[in-house]
Amino acid sequence: MAQPTKLPPLYVQIRADLMKAIDTGLLNPGDRAPSERELTQKYGVSRMTARHALSTLEAEGYLTRVPGSGTFVSQPKFEQKLNAVTSFTEEAQLHGMVPDTRILATAIVEADYRMAERMQVQAGTPIIQFQRLRMANGIPMALETSNLPLGRFPGLEGVNLANDSLYRILRERYNFKPAHATQSIEVMVAGTFEAGLLSIRSGAPLLLLERFTHGPENKLVEYVRSFYRGDRYRFFTELH
Ligand code: GLP
Repeated sequence: MAQPTKLPPLYVQIRADLMKAIDTGLLNPGDRAPSERELTQKYGVSRMTARHALSTLEAEGYLTRVPGSGTFVSQPKFEQKLNAVTSFTEEAQLHGMVPDTRILATAIVEADYRMAERMQVQAGTPIIQFQRLRMANGIPMALETSNLPLGRFPGLEGVNLANDSLYRILRERYNFKPAHATQSIEVMVAGTFEAGLLSIRSGAPLLLLERFTHGPENKLVEYVRSFYRGDRYRFFTELH
């Protein structure tokens, strides 16, 4: 005798229906997802089952819950190739977006032991630091702190980097072009400071990219810590 087919739990069916609506364009990025109440009525399920379906899709990144407003279809991620020393400005333009930068802080500090080791300079060497909020089409995307040896770039502290590209300035004003860089990526969570600036909730995933950029003759010229929004970025590499 044939075994009766076991139906998947109801939340799995609701999830599959919502996924289909997203895949077929019935629901587009930014559209409001059905509410728990609408799902309970449509499927005749409990509120807990409806919530489970929505939170599964939220955990998978397809939906984004905005406290006080509702749940929306997530925006597509920005795909960034990791095969060249590109700048934020170039990447945003490549995706047809308008880059925008807010300078949060500029300072000249003396390299302490840790910084000196990272930047391959003597302790006490003057380092210029920029903390910048990077945006694309007005959406906060990344928060980055760049460190450069002031001796190599005299006068950089007086340059207005708001809405400009650091790499463009290094190229045009200092005749410097990055030759190669090493970069690591690790997962972090947003604290209240990062969350506030990046318009995400505290505890949301971030990707910390640490880049060490070298000029010709392998001289280190830039050490950057960038926090990229985990819900907005996807990094792509080709392996041979
Ligand atoms: C990216 C990199 C940074 C680099 C920056 C330069 O954001 N993660 O390491 O400093 O690009 O960007 P821009 O020239 O737009 O200032």
